[in-house]
Amino acid sequence: MYPLRRNRRLRSTEAIRSLVRETIITPDDFLMPIFVVEGKNIKEEITSMPDCFRFSLDLLEKEVKEIWALGIKSVLLFVKVPENLKDNAGTEAINPEGLMQRAVKTVKNAVPEMLVMTDVALDPYSSYGHDGIVSEGKILNDDTTAILAEMALSHAQAGADFVAPSDMMDGRIFEIRSLLEDEGFYETGIMSYSAKYASAFYGPFRNALGSAPGFGDKKTYQMDPSNRDEAVRETLMDIEEGADIVMVKPGLCYLDIVRDIKNVVNVPVAVYQVSGEYAMIKAAAEKGWLDHDAVVLEQLTAIKRAGANIIATYFAKDAVKLIS
Ligand code: PBG
Repeated sequence: MYPLRRNRRLRSTEAIRSLVRETIITPDDFLMPIFVVEGKNIKEEITSMPDCFRFSLDLLEKEVKEIWALGIKSVLLFVKVPENLKDNAGTEAINPEGLMQRAVKTVKNAVPEMLVMTDVALDPYSSYGHDGIVSEGKILNDDTTAILAEMALSHAQAGADFVAPSDMMDGRIFEIRSLLEDEGFYETGIMSYSAKYASAFYGPFRNALGSAPGFGDKKTYQMDPSNRDEAVRETLMDIEEGADIVMVKPGLCYLDIVRDIKNVVNVPVAVYQVSGEYAMIKAAAEKGWLDHDAVVLEQLTAIKRAGANIIATYFAKDAVKLIS
């Protein structure tokens, strides 16, 4: 009882604050998303994501060596697919010589110890910009999971350590796990985007990959931001189907979901701080309205405090430099 109990004692100096600090972010927490394009000697800045680039394979090699040296040990790869290779069947997605498959090999050659995760979803390959096969304005579930499983297998064959399905079709984790097992890829892990919301925060990412939906939106497969219990149900099903790591996406607006899930699962929980969250901080900092570095560290700490074991963030490089 006051004045016997005074909470400010534990805040009075940096020494005591660091002694009682509950959450500490380290380079081990970060998974860095990287965008890859065809071509040579390309490092193009993404307009809606300042300081974030699309790399051609030759420069990707340089980039991953650099981030490894900084202490970042895991990457999540995304590819920008040329328009003429897009269709409604995911043909290019399973091309053994496709950009993703070559990107995986490039990273593994450059830094063999780097953990390589790949995005598994059809949207960058889809002439409709959707995460699944489209028929009469609908996204077909089971036709899509069949091709996603083949896509995951093709990434595993290229050398991916983990595949990360971000599509939100029902049953895709089971389909992917089963095919990987059948083909002997029992060591390949699955990080499932388990609770992925139909969010307006993906705008800058779709700009980065030219993958915005051509018609409608993604609300028939991605989750309704109003729902909380459903996130737990989705996640438990993915674990049953064989997910090694589960993910919540986006980050900051969904930290209640992160904690709900953390409280009921016993697999690692990842959180994706998405492109819109990144862009907001960059824009406000550019205007001088926010302290960029302080806000980055505060948000990443908040994500970890909520229960994230892994944070996918475009700020990975900034954060590592700031904390070391
Ligand atoms: C594709 C995918 C998206 C993101 C990751 N994988 C976009 C979407 O679902 O429309 C978004 C990432 C970000 O915004 O940073 N399935």
